[in-house]
Amino acid sequence: MSNLEELNRELEEKNLLGFWTFVRESAYEPSSFFEPCMWKWKDISGALEKAGEVLDLTQSFRRFIGFRTPSVKMGTTNTMLLGAQLVKPGEIAEAHHHTMGAIRFVISGGGAQTTVNGEPFPMEPGDLITTPSLSWHDHYNGSDRPIIWLDGADGPFIKYLGVPVGFPRTRSNHRLTAIAGKIRKRA
Ligand SMILES: [Fe+2]
Repeated sequence: MSNLEELNRELEEKNLLGFWTFVRESAYEPSSFFEPCMWKWKDISGALEKAGEVLDLTQSFRRFIGFRTPSVKMGTTNTMLLGAQLVKPGEIAEAHHHTMGAIRFVISGGGAQTTVNGEPFPMEPGDLITTPSLSWHDHYNGSDRPIIWLDGADGPFIKYLGVPVGFPRTRSNHRLTAIAGKIRKRA
């Protein structure tokens, strides 16, 4: 055994790691953490329709179906979970907040509203609404048609940092404290 091999063994026994043992040419090669995957909209919309029949919002405060990549344990990518959500006419997806930042991009339906920290944001197809980390938000569909949006959050990244992703919900809805468009006007 060479002197270097002996040192490496000594370090290993003491739960130490010599930098020279893992820096290799391959460490500088680009690599991916997961395999590609594709989801068909007909499968997603069909599953949401079925979930709308068998699951009401008293059973789960979100009717959300995630896009799970098989090579990623609980996520679409190693940093994000994307999915689709359905809110039926008259339903309120109750208020909550979390450490995750989230986005939602409206696909179909309309006439609904997401309230973020007391400010209502109307939801129509093509709209993109963000909810920053820790902001309270709920969704209300006051229209007569179902609304579906793509929903994404950085939960896997937050989890990787060792931070809890959510908190217990403490209110069923939250009061409107701002008029619609306040943030747009401020910008
Ligand atoms: Fe949320």
